[in-house]
Amino acid sequence: MSRRLCEGRLALAAVGSATPSYASLPFMANRVSISPKNASTKNKNKRNGAPAAPPLRPAASSKQFLSDKVGHFTESVIREMTRQAMLHGAVNLAQGFPDFPAPQEIKQAAQQAVAADVNQYAITWGAKNLRNAIARQMGVWQGITVDPEKEITVCCGSTEAMISTLLAVCNAGDEVVIFEPFYENYGPDSVLSGAKPKFVKLRPPATDGGEWTFDDKELRRAFDKHTKAIILNTPNNPTGKVFTRAELELIRDLCVEFDVLAITDEIYEHILYEGTEHVAMVSLEGMRERTVTINGMSKTYSVTGWRVGWAVAPEKITNAIRKVHDFLTVGAPAPLQEAGATALSLPAQYYAKLAEGYRVRRDHLMPALTTAGFRCFRPRGAYYIMTDISAFGFSDDVTFAKYLVQEIGVACVPGSSFYRDPRDGARQVRFAFCKKPETLDEAARRLGKLRN
Ligand SMILES: Cc1ncc(COP(=O)(O)O)c(C=O)c1O
Repeated sequence: MSRRLCEGRLALAAVGSATPSYASLPFMANRVSISPKNASTKNKNKRNGAPAAPPLRPAASSKQFLSDKVGHFTESVIREMTRQAMLHGAVNLAQGFPDFPAPQEIKQAAQQAVAADVNQYAITWGAKNLRNAIARQMGVWQGITVDPEKEITVCCGSTEAMISTLLAVCNAGDEVVIFEPFYENYGPDSVLSGAKPKFVKLRPPATDGGEWTFDDKELRRAFDKHTKAIILNTPNNPTGKVFTRAELELIRDLCVEFDVLAITDEIYEHILYEGTEHVAMVSLEGMRERTVTINGMSKTYSVTGWRVGWAVAPEKITNAIRKVHDFLTVGAPAPLQEAGATALSLPAQYYAKLAEGYRVRRDHLMPALTTAGFRCFRPRGAYYIMTDISAFGFSDDVTFAKYLVQEIGVACVPGSSFYRDPRDGARQVRFAFCKKPETLDEAARRLGKLRN
């Protein structure tokens, strides 16, 4: 277990709402060795005996080589837990990637694209076929007309779409509202773009089967003249919350009143349970001109390693996103973009089957967790179960996650990694259930040991 996890510190710590004060985690910086090679101080010119020219670099630099920004966050705890799972031979229910095959049609499409020598850079903002498919599907799913030539940027995953968007719209000191618990990338994304995150709490359901909720007044207090954007993730990772139309309308009203952008990560839009409706922020009246919709192939088509995502935004914002994206990555993998066009042309039944498959997996894992002693917050969407671990009597989530991966053989994500203040997540851990039945069976068998 890395020191970072043992210390139970969150990637972002103590991010105040008025003046940002980030706890620095200096041991992360120590991981990078930057000592100059061959830094001998005996620097005589042996050939002619003349005093040698000063060394190119001093032996021990007094310069701070690392940016201040990287001191404000650590590597991802989620990805760290995957490494821990591999180290301890644990069942990995930490990171959200499927361990089952992707649809045959899209793998074939990728193979065909490679065979057809689609090997060179695609147009920097995305292959035309894929952009056309995204625009078509935005029409079908959100009822929105999107111009594929002017309003779509294909990126290396929705991860890049989010950071490119934030870099494109934020100036130093701009504030960005984020619901917490939050998908851990949003914290570092804000820091990298110079924005100051302002967190608004999602409160866990008081009763079994209840909803995660937020306080309207707390949300309103987070908005002021410095607010540039709100980052919204629905269906939500890690809570499984799906924001209702009424909640989104409330957020819409604040965005309009304070002239704020909504940057919505809708990567789980097709993974919904019990007839829950996904409402796209962009589809609400008044939001077309102030919404950036982020999505991607990773979750809907079970290809998290392909790294194809996109941002859909009004032309002016798209132009800015495209500029950032171009200089960050030039473009997403060209043959996989072609396969993306095939993926987005799959029939409606594909999406129904996808959601039903995840409902079965959720209902496979949840009883095993409950029987083992976890209190589960039933997700309405996405493929995670957030749990309460109070019953186990551990001092905190990180100690518990460490015990679980090392002694029980199951990897989860400590709840603190989803909060600004690690104490808020100290009684929670998250499990991913995007796994084969046999993987979930094995996890259930191991979790059974918790009762002994
Ligand atoms: C909410 C959310 N957004 C984005 C991502 C990353 O998506 P991508 O693979 O498209 O970069 C994840 C992955 O777990 C996620 O949960």
